[in-house]
Amino acid sequence: MLFLYSNTYSNILPDLDNSKSILYKYHYIKQDSCCRIDIMTKIIATLIAFFLSLNTYTVAYQEHTTDKELEKNNYERDIFLEEDIRLEELKPAKAVSKTDSGLSNAWWSYPNDIEQATRSGDDLLVLVNKKYQLPSTYAPSDLISVCASVTNIRCVNSVEFLLRRILISDLQDLVNSAVADNIDLSVRSAYRSYNTQIGTYNHWLSVNGGNVAAADKISARAGHSQHQLGTTIDFSTSEIRDGLGGTFASTKASKWLAENAHKYGFAISYPQGYESITGYGYESWHYRYIGRENAQEMINSGMILELYLRSKN
Ligand code: DAL
Ligand code: ZN
Repeated sequence: MLFLYSNTYSNILPDLDNSKSILYKYHYIKQDSCCRIDIMTKIIATLIAFFLSLNTYTVAYQEHTTDKELEKNNYERDIFLEEDIRLEELKPAKAVSKTDSGLSNAWWSYPNDIEQATRSGDDLLVLVNKKYQLPSTYAPSDLISVCASVTNIRCVNSVEFLLRRILISDLQDLVNSAVADNIDLSVRSAYRSYNTQIGTYNHWLSVNGGNVAAADKISARAGHSQHQLGTTIDFSTSEIRDGLGGTFASTKASKWLAENAHKYGFAISYPQGYESITGYGYESWHYRYIGRENAQEMINSGMILELYLRSKN
């Protein structure tokens, strides 16, 4: 608010100065009584016009600032939330071959022939990976606040994480079941807009001294993140004080999710040992919702999520 005020104020100072000079000029002009009324009218009209324009300008500025601030907050939130991923020791691919990845020679790199996702972003089975990207304009239309809609799950730092309404009921069932098994769950990240992904990826690029390979192992480039779907959650738990990264893998919550998440329609996206297929390091915390029936079919098939989705796209 202070920021908004000071910026608004500093931006109108030239106008204020200008209005003062107008008053000053009028004050020192010699006038007869009849012209004085005319000049007073002009001064009042000038002041009214000035305050009207000031009001319009302030409103426009506030709207602009709100949008920018929102995106900045999203970006900073994701930076904060992913801060400790940096600490994770990235596992090397178990198999590095063109056949395995289907993407490129290096398991973390992007192919030259990036294509648009073949299904709509709204489709629970849309394949989003390093080859298939979502349009920059895609955003789900049914995003709602996770912690305002689901009980017994904590949103770290009271951040208002957003997810699609379509999965809320199944997420509530998952959380209820976890609580019944004495498992604590918190949310560290959920929906990310296209613009937020730009900031997040650039942050990791910068943190890694511009090393593209290092950034590509842990962070998706804009349009390539499943977080843009609004169906993906990064979980954490009180056992590691809501931390993220490698430490989550050893928690009770991580083990519980690995065994039970599919019953509620969720699947781990980047499992350990499949880096050469997914294109990302192991992320024990990152789960995507595909619906209960699909998740069960995936489990029955023995495929990881990436391969299951490839078979559907
Ligand atoms: N960390 C995952 C790969 C993402 O950025 O979506
Ligand atoms: Zn994630």
